[in-house]
Amino acid sequence: MRITQKARLAALGVAFVYAACRAENPVLSVHEYAHPKVVRFLGPMPEPETNRFRPQVIHLGRKLFYEPKLSANGKVSCATCHEQSQGFSDGVALATTGVSGKPATRNSPALINLAWSNNGLFWDGGAKNLESQLLGPLHNPDEMGQAIGVSLDKLKADSTYRRAFEKAFPDQQVSITNLLQAIAQFVRTLVSFDSLYDRVLRQEAMLNDAEARGRNLFTGKCAVCHNGPLMTDNDYHNNGIDTTYPPIHDGQPMGRFRITRKDADIGKFRTPTLRNIAVTKPYMHDGRFATLEAVIEHYSSGIKRSTTLDGKLPAGGFHFSAQDKADLKEFLLTLTDENFLKRKEFHLD
Ligand code: HEC
Ligand code: HEC
Repeated sequence: MRITQKARLAALGVAFVYAACRAENPVLSVHEYAHPKVVRFLGPMPEPETNRFRPQVIHLGRKLFYEPKLSANGKVSCATCHEQSQGFSDGVALATTGVSGKPATRNSPALINLAWSNNGLFWDGGAKNLESQLLGPLHNPDEMGQAIGVSLDKLKADSTYRRAFEKAFPDQQVSITNLLQAIAQFVRTLVSFDSLYDRVLRQEAMLNDAEARGRNLFTGKCAVCHNGPLMTDNDYHNNGIDTTYPPIHDGQPMGRFRITRKDADIGKFRTPTLRNIAVTKPYMHDGRFATLEAVIEHYSSGIKRSTTLDGKLPAGGFHFSAQDKADLKEFLLTLTDENFLKRKEFHLD
């Protein structure tokens, strides 16, 4: 009798654990980052030697990405400013959702295909890689504002996290390195290569006439910087949105100069990808343009002259016709990857 009851309890326990596991979404499988669709254009996803993909680590990284305990007021997680339905950006020019409630000094960028971002992160390249980049938002009082030591203590006090770190890492520790590695791995899995444009590149679909005209214009005028399948050359340019670059906010409006201190880099920012651009508004490093129309108008009639303006961009703009502008927009809309914006591997429930 006692044994059966024990057995029944055990069975219940197993069923409970099973249900708990089943309720959690799977993470992206290793096959998917080495998916032929991706590999065909870019080769396999680069994996840092020191932080190899492992499902348990990605799984933990995803949980941490959505974890408000990592913030000083217990309310802010990475996802507060990087929301899946918006290409992991946040829809406002300068976020005020950080712990301090004060506006951030830059627009929250979309997090897309960053595994291939090999020339610095942040709008000015102020971070070398995803692992080190994460110290920024975790510490910054206008973002999550909590010392890492405090975050680690909170995680150590939670047995679910202790077990997850034990399972994920050979040294089994809840440590800074492991915390950063886990979140970085999850962010690397945010891969978007399944828009209409990709299906066209794979010769599985065709653009309509307006989209095709837009693509031609784009190839001629924009693709030098918004280049290749990543739609970015991972380099720094001045695209003529300003003529002056005040040294306020620790030099943030000065762009790449803040990092290199070379005059030639004043006003240069890292070319953003244009993937999922329809849902990542507002645009530019400070979110100054609310719509794609406003961005296209900038390139048509608003490009400002300055000493560091990129040579590929004419001061005064390209002077697009109304038809050109409409076509360019149609092409940009083909870059939306609905699956990326919804896929369950990228959210918790
Ligand atoms: C309060 C809003 C906020 C929170 C919270 C936040 N971020 Fe960000 N994130 C930003 C802003 C703003 C930038 C751009 C900063 C810059 O370039 O100077 C950024 C930049 C980034 C970048 C660089 C992307 C690129 O293309 O260069 C990554 C990656 C990133 N955040 C991931 C995270 C992760 C992971 C977390 C959680 C640990 C997080 N962020 C929390 C607002 C936020
Ligand atoms: C000389 C390089 C260069 C060329 C050419 C160029 N861009 Fe850009 N583009 C950039 C840079 C750099 C930024 C970011 C600037 C900033 O944030 O201050 C940017 C930003 C954008 C953004 C906003 C992205 C975001 O996430 O905020 C869009 C949309 C865009 N460009 C579209 C275009 C289109 C369309 C063309 C062609 C008409 C074009 N670009 C030509 C370099 C370039």
